[in-house]
Amino acid sequence: MSLLPLFEYPHPILRQKAKPVETVDEELRRFLDDMLETMYADKGVGLAAPQVGVSKRVIVIDAHQHEEDESGDFRPGQPMYLVNPEIVWHSEETILFCEGCLSVPGQNADVERFQSVRVKYLDYDGNSQEIEASDYEAVVLQHEIDHLDGILYIDHLSRLKRDMLLKKLKKYRESHEK
Ligand code: NI
Repeated sequence: MSLLPLFEYPHPILRQKAKPVETVDEELRRFLDDMLETMYADKGVGLAAPQVGVSKRVIVIDAHQHEEDESGDFRPGQPMYLVNPEIVWHSEETILFCEGCLSVPGQNADVERFQSVRVKYLDYDGNSQEIEASDYEAVVLQHEIDHLDGILYIDHLSRLKRDMLLKKLKKYRESHEK
C-alpha cells in the first residue's frame, strides 16, 4: 500500500465531474486500499478519489473512528468503500454540522445537510449495496459524494462566509509555508 498525494483547493480536478467506475477489479481494490490508508494518515473521516487526483466515482469513509488519547492517532472504526455512490433518498429534515475538508486545510464551517440519506453503491467486491445513514455519517456521505460532482463544502456557504473562509485559508497557507 502507498500514500497518495492530496490535491487542494483551487486545483481544477476538484471541480470536475468524476467518471463512473465500470468494473471493480484488483487494480481498483489496490486504489481503494491506498485511499483508505491516505485518509487515515491525514486524519480524515472521508476521502474522494478526485482529492488524490483521480477523477473516478469512488469514496472511502470511516465515520466511526475514535481518536486515541496520547498519540492523537485515529483508531479505525468502520471503514467503508463506496464505488459509484448515489443518493437514492433523503429526508426532508436538515441538520447543521461543522465540516472541514482535507482539500481546504485548516478550515471549517457550518453546512446544512439532509439529516438522513439512503445511498446505493458497489462495495469492495463489486456487489450492489444500499446503506441508510443519519446525522454525522449522513453528513460525511453527502460531503464526499459532492466531491464526485466537483462540489466543495465551501460552495454551500453564503458568498460572504465563503470569502471570509478563503481569506483565512490564504493566511493559513502563508503561516504554514516552509
Ligand atoms: Ni472534502
